[in-house]
Amino acid sequence: MTTSRDIGPKNPAQQVAEAAVDFVDERSGVKTGARWFLFRNIPAGTSWFQTLGFTAMVVFGMQAITGIILAMYYVPDTQGGAYASIQRITEEVTWGWMVRGMHKWGASVMIIIVFLHMARVFIWGAYKYPRELTWITGAFLLLMTMFMGLTGYLLVWDQKAYWATVVAVNIFASAPVLGPYIGDILRAGPEFGPATLTRFYSIHMLVIPAGIATFIGLHLYFIMRLGISEPPWSKRRLRIERDEEDARRAAVREHAKALPGAVAYPATWSAGAKDGTR
Ligand code: HEM
Repeated sequence: MTTSRDIGPKNPAQQVAEAAVDFVDERSGVKTGARWFLFRNIPAGTSWFQTLGFTAMVVFGMQAITGIILAMYYVPDTQGGAYASIQRITEEVTWGWMVRGMHKWGASVMIIIVFLHMARVFIWGAYKYPRELTWITGAFLLLMTMFMGLTGYLLVWDQKAYWATVVAVNIFASAPVLGPYIGDILRAGPEFGPATLTRFYSIHMLVIPAGIATFIGLHLYFIMRLGISEPPWSKRRLRIERDEEDARRAAVREHAKALPGAVAYPATWSAGAKDGTR
């Protein structure tokens, strides 16, 4: 659609910008891709509640950025270096206190948002067919998010962090059969020590973020493929569900007519039971 702003010669900056976008688009198809990704029909009744998943994604992005900055100053050393580096970030590094604060509070915010998002999905019944795999990938995201909290907590390496993590690892280690192995993997051996801090640091910095990024990719793929679900009170959804139920009953009746006595009887009987006529 042409608007009044499109009339007349364009300013040089706009011409250069459009030429640059066209150059990239002709070779990559990025405009079509972005349009496919961003411009889609959403059901009537979509509300702010459906923005919680995206909020979780934004908070994860913030955690990644602030985490990268913290990693530039943090020293995973159990001989006092880890704690001292945290002190230096908080007291000496420019804006260090703010980046650390954002990362620390962001961790709690992310867990709260993910739980709220999950509650929204549960109340909407959005985990049902055909979105089971979206739910399962989400469940892995929840586990990994909580594991980020556990592994990050130890990195400060003060008394509170140390003993809280000892308790958490002991809980894992007391699980039947696999528990002792999980305990050894987390501690990087039978005892808590320097290797444990390095293990937690690498899990926190590399393993879980890579896992979360991969699972967000999968989660989004399912959401793109299946579209966002309609609220349970949507008239269209209720009508579709009623039509599907009618069609199912009609199919059972047809099936029953086509079958001889012994098989037909239970089929019609069960259809009747569902109808409430029996
Ligand atoms: C890091 C954590 C997570 C991120 C970044 C994330 C991201 C998203 C986004 C962007 C959406 C689409 C918009 C929306 O419905 O809000 C969504 C939908 C969905 N999510 Fe998540 N999610 C996360 C965790 C979870 C968890 C823990 C579950 C459940 C166990 C879950 C299950 C679902 C389902 C079933 C949908 C489809 C909802 C619908 O179609 O109405 N997600 N997620």
